[in-house]
Amino acid sequence: MKRRNFLKNGSLAAASVAFMPSSQLFAKSASGNAVKIGIIGVGLRGQNHLELLLTRKDVEVTAICDISDYMLQSAKQEVTKSGKKMPTIYTGDVNAWKRMLEKEKLDGIVIATPWEWHKPMIVGSLEAGVKYVGSEVCIGLSLQDHWDVVKTAERYNAQVMMLENVCYRRDVMAVLNMVRQGLFGELIHLQGGYQHDLREVKFNNGNNPANSPVEFGAKAFSEASWRTEHSVQRNGDLYPTHGVGPIANYININRGNRFVNLCSFSSKARGLHNHVVKKGGENHPNAKVNFRLGDVVTTNIQCANGETILLQHDTNLPRPYSLGFRVQGTEGLWMDVNKSIYIQDKSPNAHQWEPAKAWLDKYDHPLWARWSKETEGAGHGGMDFFVIHAFVESIKNGTATPLDVYDAATWSAITPLSEQSIALGNETVAFPDFTGGEWMYRKPVFALNDSY
Ligand SMILES: NC(=O)c1ccc[n+]([C@@H]2O[C@H](COP(=O)([O-])OP(=O)(O)OC[C@H]3O[C@@H](n4cnc5c(N)ncnc54)[C@H](O)[C@@H]3O)[C@@H](O)[C@H]2O)c1
Repeated sequence: MKRRNFLKNGSLAAASVAFMPSSQLFAKSASGNAVKIGIIGVGLRGQNHLELLLTRKDVEVTAICDISDYMLQSAKQEVTKSGKKMPTIYTGDVNAWKRMLEKEKLDGIVIATPWEWHKPMIVGSLEAGVKYVGSEVCIGLSLQDHWDVVKTAERYNAQVMMLENVCYRRDVMAVLNMVRQGLFGELIHLQGGYQHDLREVKFNNGNNPANSPVEFGAKAFSEASWRTEHSVQRNGDLYPTHGVGPIANYININRGNRFVNLCSFSSKARGLHNHVVKKGGENHPNAKVNFRLGDVVTTNIQCANGETILLQHDTNLPRPYSLGFRVQGTEGLWMDVNKSIYIQDKSPNAHQWEPAKAWLDKYDHPLWARWSKETEGAGHGGMDFFVIHAFVESIKNGTATPLDVYDAATWSAITPLSEQSIALGNETVAFPDFTGGEWMYRKPVFALNDSY
């Protein structure tokens, strides 16, 4: 299918909006009800996905690839516990996933590896003929990586869904419901980000007393073995999608609106060095490491329809977790950090916050009302259920995924653009239009289906 038609179909589906199935792109799953899924990367995040996939009767996890014996062992235990058939395991070297793609006939693939592997694994999967690729957050490192993913998805008429679970957070979806019903009026300004003290994640010896508690790199555990290096080499908003995904849905980015330009600022970097010194001592070799990532990176984005966005990346300092959402319109605003809301003429007292809970309960999104039982036990307060559910249902129904390759590229490209802006002395940089102008015609689809 030509790109234009492919996009048009997406718009047509959206034109029929509320509670209609999205457009049919492919025949319903050839393997009957059980879709065949492969997973690349069964570390901590991949195991969450595996666990959810194993609970589903409509999924067969037929192949798993990882290079860590430890992580594979845990994954295999999960399979055994579930009573499901053991998938074929691919391992041994960093290219084992390529053998998996050659040998397996998969309906969909889930990628939960370190960031640097996402682009080659997405592109490799598409080239191998996989029609549905679900990738963990960020889909590439450079801007070119993002273009490569978009162009390859278009070339193969395939779906790439970034598994951005925060879009499905219960309060985030209730607020989406409120936005769509006009409670906040016309949206003007939005905030969000990733504000999470990751010092114990960036330095983690996996409880191995032979290794120092401020280890990172080859001898460290899970994300400390790869993520920390990004804080050494790079300075920008390294993790924008948890904040910007929900915001993009609120203001219909790539669907009648778009990011026009971006400007980022970085604070000085102290948090990681101070942590090393505190836990490992001044003479620890990692005390000499120069961490480039500023402790607080702030990014401003201007949108075509006039809204402004403020994103923050704040992972190196002591702080309680908060994604810092603020959704503000001509009639009022919601802020998640104080769990409060204010709606003009509706909130009881002028100029005073009221607790958001009653509003969020009242406007609970229909998808949460429908699936709340199934979300029990799923990660991150249940939202992880939805992202896997949407991916699997899209495969089963042969439809476009509700978050598509243009969403993935646009949200994730904030990282290289913010790096560029900071490197240029906080210059404003133009935001590329991955949709090639189609953003003007595409219509919202996210959470407008009665099932996923
Ligand atoms: N959406 C969320 O809430 C959420 C939460 C945590 C992590 N993540 C994302 O998930 C991804 C994985 O993070 P994680 O916490 O599981 O990290 P992790 O280090 O625990 O797991 C990564 C796994 O990938 C494996 N791997 C590395 N290179 C490989 C290769 N070439 N072939 C096969 N396997 C390979 C590693 O052995 C490891 O088991 C990252 O993108 C991270 O940002 C998302």
